[in-house]
Amino acid sequence: MDATDMARKIIKSLTIEEKATLLSQVVWETTGVSKLNKNLTSFLLADKPAGIRRLKEYFDSDIYNTKPSTCYPSPSTYASSWNGELIYQLGQHIGVEARYENVDTMLASAINIKRSPLGGRNFEYYSKDPQLTAELSTEFIRGIQSRGVGACLKRFVANNQETRRMNINVNVDEQTLNEAYLLAFEKPIKAGKPKMIMAAYNQVDGQFCASNEKTLKKLKDWNYEGVVVTDCYAAHDLELGIKNGLTLQMPGETGKKISERIKILIDNKKINEDELNHAIEKNLKFALNASYQREKVINTEYDRKKHHSFARKVAEESIIFLKNDHVLPLNKSDNVLVIGELAKKTRFQGGGSSHVNPFKLENPLEEMQKIGENIDYLPGYSLCDPDKNEKLKQKALANSKKYDYVAVYAGVPDLVESEGYDRKDLKIPEEQNILIEELSKKQNNLIIVLANGAPIEMPWVNNVPSIIEGYLPGEAGASAIARIIFGKVNPSGRLAETFPKKLEDNPSYLNFPGSTKAVRYAEGRFVGYKYYDATKREILFPFGYGLTYTKFNYKKSEEKLVNLDQLRINLTIENIGSYDGKDVVQVYCQPISMDQSLEPKKLVGFKKIKVASGSDENISIKLDSKTFQNFDVISGKWRQIFNEFKIFVGSNCRDIKLEQVVNFQESSSSKIDANCNLGDLLKQKGMYERLSVSFQKHPKSLEFLELTKDADPIKAVSMGSLMTLNTLKRVDDTLTDQDISEIINDLNLKDERVN
Ligand code: BGC
Repeated sequence: MDATDMARKIIKSLTIEEKATLLSQVVWETTGVSKLNKNLTSFLLADKPAGIRRLKEYFDSDIYNTKPSTCYPSPSTYASSWNGELIYQLGQHIGVEARYENVDTMLASAINIKRSPLGGRNFEYYSKDPQLTAELSTEFIRGIQSRGVGACLKRFVANNQETRRMNINVNVDEQTLNEAYLLAFEKPIKAGKPKMIMAAYNQVDGQFCASNEKTLKKLKDWNYEGVVVTDCYAAHDLELGIKNGLTLQMPGETGKKISERIKILIDNKKINEDELNHAIEKNLKFALNASYQREKVINTEYDRKKHHSFARKVAEESIIFLKNDHVLPLNKSDNVLVIGELAKKTRFQGGGSSHVNPFKLENPLEEMQKIGENIDYLPGYSLCDPDKNEKLKQKALANSKKYDYVAVYAGVPDLVESEGYDRKDLKIPEEQNILIEELSKKQNNLIIVLANGAPIEMPWVNNVPSIIEGYLPGEAGASAIARIIFGKVNPSGRLAETFPKKLEDNPSYLNFPGSTKAVRYAEGRFVGYKYYDATKREILFPFGYGLTYTKFNYKKSEEKLVNLDQLRINLTIENIGSYDGKDVVQVYCQPISMDQSLEPKKLVGFKKIKVASGSDENISIKLDSKTFQNFDVISGKWRQIFNEFKIFVGSNCRDIKLEQVVNFQESSSSKIDANCNLGDLLKQKGMYERLSVSFQKHPKSLEFLELTKDADPIKAVSMGSLMTLNTLKRVDDTLTDQDISEIINDLNLKDERVN
C-alpha cells in the first residue's frame, strides 16, 4: 500500500476532532493522534540553511542552546559560489547531519529576494536575482532530499523585510510579483519538489500569506502536492487557509482548542470535511514517508572532520575577491601584520533562528599563522569597549610601516545582522572606517578582509589595493580566507547582489520598510542590478562580479553565439593567466521594446567552469525556458511579448564580452483588449493588414486606421495612433461591442505563442 492509500485509510478511522489535531504542531514536532502509532503520524522539524539548529532540550526557550553541528557558510555566501553542483553536495551534507539528529524536515532553503540591502535576514537569502536563486536552491533541495530528509522551501512569498514582518501588507504589481518574486520559487517547487513549503508572515494585497488566495493558488498551478506550513504563529484565517491549501500551523492551537475550532467551522459549513481531509492527507503522507525514511536510512555518526573540510571547500568557492592591485597572493615568508579584533573573534554567521552552534570554529589569526611564517597581530579597534579605540588605532598605525603587508579584518558586528529587525544603514563601525583610511596613508600593501552578511559602504575603496569579501563564511571560513591570501586557492566567488556606493542609491530606498501598515514595491521589476544598469548608476561592485588570480578570454566557438533551436549559448573560454582557475560565465537577455519603455536586462543562464592555465574549454549554457517571455497580466500567463532581444555574455552584468541580437520573425504580442491603442497595435507585424480586413464593414474606423499613416505626424499620432478600439466605438456608429469582441478574439487567436 502506498503512502496515499495508507493516509486515506487512516483518515477514514478518525473523528473530526482527531483529524483537527493533525493540523497543528507543538513547537518542533507535529501532534500525532493518540490512538495511532506516533511514529506514523508525526514528524520533526529543525532550522535551517547553514547547518542544523537542533535544540538540546526539546522545549528549550534558549534558541542558541543547540547541539553542535557543522556551521556552513551562510546562504548569502554560498550563493556567491554560483555552483549548483557544490550546493547539491552541501544539501547532501546537511541532509546527512539532519538524519543523524533524527530530523525529518530541514526548514530550508529560505529564498526571498533581497529587495533592499537593509533586509535583516539578507544573509539567509541567496540573491537579488530570481534566476540565480531558483537554480541554486533547486540543487540545495535535491541534495537534502537525496538523504531522505524533507526540505521546506520558504518563506512564500514577498517576505523581504523584517520590520513589521508579521503584519506588513506588501503592495506589489502583478507583473513584478511574478517576474521578480514568484519566479524564484517556481523552479525549486517544480523541479526540486520540496516536501514542504512555508507560507510567510506578511500579507500580499491585503491577505496574509498563510491564507492568501492569489499566492497559494500559484502552488496549485505549479502542481505542488506537499505540506504547506505557516511560519511561526503566522496562521490567521484557518478557514481561508484550509480552503486555499494550507495544511499545517506552526505552532498552532493544539488538542481541544483546534478540535473545537474545526468542529465549529464544519458545523457552520465554513469548510467541509473533504477540505479538512485533503489538508491532513498531505501531512499524513509526509509523516508516513518520514517514518519510512527513518527506518530505511541508518543514522550513523558522520565524519565531523570531513564535514568541517567540506564547509571550508564551500567557503573557498564562495569568498569574493573584490580588488587586487598586485598585492596578493602573499608568500609564506612575507612579514604581515594582522589588525582587527575580528581576526580573533570571528564573525561567521547571522543571528536568529538560523544560528548554528558550530562543531569546530576556526580563528582567523591562527589560520593565517598556520600558513604564514611571520604573522603578528594588533587589535586596532575594540568590538565592545569604544574608549579603547583611539589608543588601539594609534598603536596599529605606529607599527604598520614595519611590515611588508597589513591585513585588516573588518566588518559588521554580530548583533547588527539578525532575524527580527532590518539594518539601519550599510556602514561598518566608524572606528573601523577611520582605521582603514588612516592605515591606507601609511601602508601601500593593505589587504582588507570583510565579514558581513550583505552589502556595506566602503568609503576607503579607492585608497586600498586589495579587498576580500568573506561574507559570513561559516566555521571553516578563516582557513579558506588564509588559503586565498597565500594563493593556495584561486578565488572564484561572484557577487550574487550589487554593492551600491551608498544606501540612497538602491532602488527600494524611498519605499523601505514602508509605513505602519503597508509597503509599496514602487521600483517594480527593477530590483538590484536591473535598476542600477537601467539607470547607468555608478556602483561599488556589480552583480556577478569577482576577481581571480588568473585571466579569462571569451571567444565564439560557432558562427552564432545563440543557438535558438536548442536554446543554448555556445562559446569558448580561454585561461590566459598563470593560475588554474574557475570562471562564472553569465548570460543576460534584454528585450528591445519598440516604444520608449525600458525592459530590465535579466540573467537567463550561467555556468561555472574550471579552466587550466594556458588551455581552453568549449562550453554550452542552457537558457532558461522563460528567456524570451514576460508575465502578461492580461492573460495571467508567461508569454513572448517582444520580438527582438539582445543576448549578452559576460563575466558580470557590466563586463559584457560577447553579444548578439536575436530576432523572431513571427509577430507576437501581449493579449489584446479593447483599450489597446492603434499605435501600439500597429507595432506588431502584419497588424495593419489584419485591422484593415476587420474594419472593412466599419469605414469610419478604417479612416482612423489610415490616419495613423498620414504624412502629418501630429495627425498620425493624435488622430490615429492614440485611438483605442473602445474610443473608435464612440466615433463609429457601426462598431458595436459585439464587433469589438469578435475583432479582439480574432486578433488574439492568431497570436498563440503562449506558455
Ligand atoms: C522564522 C522561520 C523559522 C521559524 C522556526 C521563524 O521565526 O521566520 O524561518 O523556521 O521561526 O524557528
